[in-house]
Amino acid sequence: MKFGYFDDVNREYVITNARTPWPWINYLGNEDFFSLVSNTAGGYSFFKDAKFRRITRYRYNNVPMDAGGRYFYIKEGDVIWNPGWKPTKTPLDKYECRHGMSYTRITGEKNGLEAELLMFVPLKTHAEIERLTFRNKTESKKTFKVFSFLEWCLWNASTDMENFQRNFSTGEVEIDGSVIYHKTEYKERRNHYAFYGVNSPISGYDTDRETFLGLYNGFEEPEAVLEGSSRLSHAHGWSPIASHSLDVTLEPGEEKSFVFTLGYVELNDDEKWESKGVINKAPAKAILSRFDTSEKVDRAFNELKAYWDDLLSIYSVKTDDDKLDRMVNIWNQYQCMVTFNMSRSASFFESGIGRGMGFRDSNQDLVGFVHQIPGRARERIIDIASTQFPDGGCYHQYQPLTKRGNNDIGGGFNDDPMWLIFGTVAYLKETGDFSILDEMVPFDNEKGTEVTLFEHLKVSFNHVIENLGPHGLPLIGRADWNDCLNLNCFSHDPNESFQTTENNTVGSKAESLMIAGLFSVCGKSYVALCEYLGKDDEARRASEFISKMDESVIKYGWDGEWYLRAYDFYGKKVGSKENEEGKIFIESQGWCAMAEIGKSEGMVEKSLDSTKKLLECEHGIVLNQPAFTSYVVEYGEISTYPAGYKENAGIFCHNNPWIIIAEALAGRGNDAWSHYAKICPSYTEEHSDLHKVEPYVYSQMIAGRDAAKPGEAKNSWLTGTAAWNWYAVSQFILGVRPYYDGLVIDPCIPSSCKGFKVTRRFRSGVYTIEVKNPDGAEKGVKTITLDGVVISGNKVPVLSGEHSVVVSM
Ligand code: GLC
Ligand code: GLC
Repeated sequence: MKFGYFDDVNREYVITNARTPWPWINYLGNEDFFSLVSNTAGGYSFFKDAKFRRITRYRYNNVPMDAGGRYFYIKEGDVIWNPGWKPTKTPLDKYECRHGMSYTRITGEKNGLEAELLMFVPLKTHAEIERLTFRNKTESKKTFKVFSFLEWCLWNASTDMENFQRNFSTGEVEIDGSVIYHKTEYKERRNHYAFYGVNSPISGYDTDRETFLGLYNGFEEPEAVLEGSSRLSHAHGWSPIASHSLDVTLEPGEEKSFVFTLGYVELNDDEKWESKGVINKAPAKAILSRFDTSEKVDRAFNELKAYWDDLLSIYSVKTDDDKLDRMVNIWNQYQCMVTFNMSRSASFFESGIGRGMGFRDSNQDLVGFVHQIPGRARERIIDIASTQFPDGGCYHQYQPLTKRGNNDIGGGFNDDPMWLIFGTVAYLKETGDFSILDEMVPFDNEKGTEVTLFEHLKVSFNHVIENLGPHGLPLIGRADWNDCLNLNCFSHDPNESFQTTENNTVGSKAESLMIAGLFSVCGKSYVALCEYLGKDDEARRASEFISKMDESVIKYGWDGEWYLRAYDFYGKKVGSKENEEGKIFIESQGWCAMAEIGKSEGMVEKSLDSTKKLLECEHGIVLNQPAFTSYVVEYGEISTYPAGYKENAGIFCHNNPWIIIAEALAGRGNDAWSHYAKICPSYTEEHSDLHKVEPYVYSQMIAGRDAAKPGEAKNSWLTGTAAWNWYAVSQFILGVRPYYDGLVIDPCIPSSCKGFKVTRRFRSGVYTIEVKNPDGAEKGVKTITLDGVVISGNKVPVLSGEHSVVVSM
């Protein structure tokens, strides 16, 4: 069952039934001011950091789900309703929510009155615009009241929900005309305030939550709204909010718009005050005046649209399959931008409090984003590398506001360093900007420790070879990519986190085949980079270590039909036919097969066949089989999850594309395709009721075949799945792959596909690439013509201007 449909022309998903099986959300903002918005206008806003600079309040896992947001109450006679249906849930005559590229438009209609709410964050602006447009669709005059409502967060989203003995006394606001200013803690250490204004005179306001709602009422029945007039409350402590009220009259057929602006301002210490105790409102007024008419809002909105037109024109495809086209051209790329911005911090599954930017996560996100805004990718790489330690080890995460490593979240994940090579190489291939390798980058943000970024790549490479175990395979440390395979934790205390508990590496023999494959893949691209740069000695040195690693995998990492997953603390096999549960794992199949280790011995094909036979199910490829059914202390968190969920035999979508890519490298286009389509949102839209989360973005996990409800997805939006599927489909299935000196064309498609056309803007050129597959091949390019002339090989050189490439398979 579906709850809406794709509108590809407008690049929107249109929700027509407000009762989606879970809140279906969208993100507003592209650079530093961000908002989350659900299909019923729930959600919250923050500046840069969802933990330390939260602007509006949100309560997670609330009852009912998704309570709190930017709400507009309309009171016409005795009928009170919201354009987004919630929170009053008054039945609407019409409801529609259009989630688009960084904007959301919700339209509700009741008794001939239409209310359309357009929400977006204009480019380069620290504010969310909410334009509320009313249309009187009846033959008679309408008079009604409108109340806005949002709740301020006391900035630190974590203490905001715990430290009430302090919080209830600190709240401060100012009210000036139609603008409500939130200035809690501004008189002491904060240099920022927020404001919520409307471009019209108001008939009243409220800033104290209990006065507006009533202590015994919920968001669905604010007393002030029930009574029909604001109570003019001025918050002193307790819970400050912002609510305006307006009286509106509409003639038959008339339309009127109001622009509400939720903004954020930072000021230098010497500019903070207008007079004692009165904040300097000039910067807020400047923002308000930029959006004080509907025409100005239109202009800003069109700029946002043009921005996305441009971003999405960098890579686009035309096939005869709408579902594929809409993922490649719209939603997958859009989700890549969101994951680049948010890492794993703020979604309806991530509270915004727990996690900052992940070292491994953000590096992987780059491969989905780097073609969009390379300059921002460059900055990100430098930020990430600056948190690295001199020995190549890493903080697992850092805070976006301070850009400092955060050790409270755990460390010692031995896959982390490799991802810096992965991310940097992706940047270099896209841009050809080798100057980044000469940038001086510190260790652990310590002044005076700077070395070149290239040196950071080298210490990353060395970190693996300096941490090898008894079989010559990489020691796993706390965990590798799979945060939950904790071979050195031995935790018996339910109150400790596997991410931060003691990591008993002393005497540990725990080695990871996933890191071995990762090292081989990233190591080989490091070697190719060194060769390209003429660093032949370093290339030779690195190659030797990679050959040794590949040999160790062949000798100690092969189980007969698939790659082992690991050796545990005691040196016992993990992911072997000898094990009772967890006989086979996806990660080592994906990475060792992508590295093509043991290819000539037939290992790659066998591994992919075993994956298909033992791990594939109706909804995708599960992580391991058989699932763990009891707690294995020497394996850790993986065995804490009920069978079929998350890292314990869930379909962890992030790793499915590793198999897709390996299949594509092996030339098996039909298999690559069927794995791709199984977890791809536009293909699962048909069963949205089962799938539950948004049908326009990937989720981290779909419940596996051992679960109570296979096919039910969780943790949508913030997942490496977005970047990895983008990488898989754009570079390995459609096969248009940037390289240092050109575009490699190497499609691997289902044999039923007769051809497609990709338009790729690359460096200063635009390439129209037409692939023809009359004979139903899965892989293999016969000829390529560039502007009518046959070229040798399958790499098109870097050129300026427009070029036409015709490829015959
Ligand atoms: C989560 C983490 C990611 C990790 C994965 C597997 O998605 O963000 O870093 O690799 O889980 O455990
Ligand atoms: C848990 C989750 C894993 C996530 C990690 C992040 O271990 O299972 O997916 O990466 O937490 O802290």
